[in-house]
Amino acid sequence: MTVIGSATPRGAIPPTRTHDLDAVVVGAGGAGLYAALELKQELGPEARIGVISKLYPSRSHTGAAQGGVCAALGNTEEDHWEWHWFDTVKGGDYLVDQDAAEVMCRDAVETIINLEHLGLPFDRTEDGLINQRRFGGHTRNYGEGPVRRSCFAADRTGHAILQTLFQQCIKHEVVFFDEYQVLDLALPGGPAGPVSGVIALQLSTSELHAFRARAVLFATGGYGKVFKVTSNAHTLTGDGMAIPYRRGLPLEDMEFFQFHPTGMYKLGFLLSEAMRGEGGVLLNDRGERFMERYAPTMKDLASRDVVSRSIYLEIAEGRGIGGGDFVHLDVRHLGAEVLNKKLPDMSGFIRTYFGLEPLTDLVPIQPTAHYAMGGVPTDIDGRVLADETGRVVPGFYAAGEVACVSVHGANRLGTNSLLDILVFGRRAGKKMAAELANLPEPIVDADAEASVQARISGLLAGSEGERPAVIRAELQEVMFAKCGVYRTEELLTECRDAVAALRVRAQRLLVQDKGCRYNTDLGDALELEYLLDCAEATVASALARKESRGGHAREDFAERDDVGWLKHTFASRDPASGSMSLAYKPVTITKFEPRARTY
Ligand code: FUM
Repeated sequence: MTVIGSATPRGAIPPTRTHDLDAVVVGAGGAGLYAALELKQELGPEARIGVISKLYPSRSHTGAAQGGVCAALGNTEEDHWEWHWFDTVKGGDYLVDQDAAEVMCRDAVETIINLEHLGLPFDRTEDGLINQRRFGGHTRNYGEGPVRRSCFAADRTGHAILQTLFQQCIKHEVVFFDEYQVLDLALPGGPAGPVSGVIALQLSTSELHAFRARAVLFATGGYGKVFKVTSNAHTLTGDGMAIPYRRGLPLEDMEFFQFHPTGMYKLGFLLSEAMRGEGGVLLNDRGERFMERYAPTMKDLASRDVVSRSIYLEIAEGRGIGGGDFVHLDVRHLGAEVLNKKLPDMSGFIRTYFGLEPLTDLVPIQPTAHYAMGGVPTDIDGRVLADETGRVVPGFYAAGEVACVSVHGANRLGTNSLLDILVFGRRAGKKMAAELANLPEPIVDADAEASVQARISGLLAGSEGERPAVIRAELQEVMFAKCGVYRTEELLTECRDAVAALRVRAQRLLVQDKGCRYNTDLGDALELEYLLDCAEATVASALARKESRGGHAREDFAERDDVGWLKHTFASRDPASGSMSLAYKPVTITKFEPRARTY
């Protein structure tokens, strides 16, 4: 590929280049890679399958997933996929679409075996089977107590998945476009589709590229960087959610955001739930194992929403450590064998970032923004829905955290995220392969190309305005303080108004770097726009939902309300007027009637 950055005058961007492919996958985490692999396997070596990624694939956020991926293999104790299904539905506070969760929990077993056959080096039992450990909310026999369901490769499970799938993609000659940031969808006929490809920015040169293809999969991950304290990497700015939202397509259930209980205090980096799965416990300032009071059966392994709220309540009642806003994770009793062999990265994080020794010291933790349950609505084959009636956008697919199937409902269970990306990434790849021949030939979306050109030129041309980082920091602060674990009408209204004011200020951004080579200043400006879009949809959906369910806890509406609110939110923005609207879709209930949730 020609590199032309040096020939381009400062402040100008090179003309758009085009690539003709059969299918484009945006995002090189587990979902994107598994889909690309399936496409190649189904369509054969001649198929032109491209993966566009903001990062080198080996740096995708899947690689940060630590503790495991669950499947009811029953390798270390009795287990059944139906128990897993029930736990997923209950964990999601009954907002889960049960047909979709059934598919995920059934497919889990075969998917893990398939991954093993692709070369994934899982930890083993003494008998040579894939080893399994406990995780929050995973129970035996419909809630009787914890079960070992999470398969793992030490505490580097995501890393092992990423390497395995990447190597397979290389073997099958998937074409990679590394360090390309997607900026728009080609939708020449409007938001109803069909999709004709994507437009992306090559980060090393600031060249624009039009990728024409009959099928496009978004597997771009979440938007945790909208919060101040988060486990998410810098790149998780909601690009794949904001792009369709800007085109008038809906985002589903954005009010449900998961705060993982054990973020490293102030840093937000994750200390895997596997630490509690292996026996670690949470302690308050009095040294009490407080989860025994909130969740008598599952204790420290209750679902994440329950544990995070319990930590906040301890803090609010003055039992945070030294009266402060954190509590302790105690893993001292696990011993050197478990800490160094089964949890080596976690132990290393504690030593490196805190200078503490997990064998002898208590570890300060606080809940950290971790996972978006909501996202681009899809069916069980990754096809993107144009609205709450279930109409699909031809040629457009989404899988992984960017998507909302909805298998996580109002709160995701630990290790169901790696499972989600694998099961639905793979299913989406298969569906794309099956539908490709019937999708129309891609055509140029000249308007989209021109509008992206104008957007980039506009950002580079300005000599006055605010730095994106200043607005981003204010956004993260306000979202963490006012749209976090606990919410009220007053806080959410203030948050909505603050986000709206930040959106106005973001119309005049100052991009100081006018160059074409790795212009991260420009990248920050583009990502800020996406974060603001995601924040707008999140806060509007949260303000409207007058109940507490899973990851959405309203102090002013403390109870779950199945009569009024057992339904999915679809938030949309009209591209012409800029006005937002909310619509609702019923939850699919096939087996488990909603019940009061206790752990
Ligand atoms: O705690 C963890 O290892 C995170 C797992 C997950 O979010 O699924």
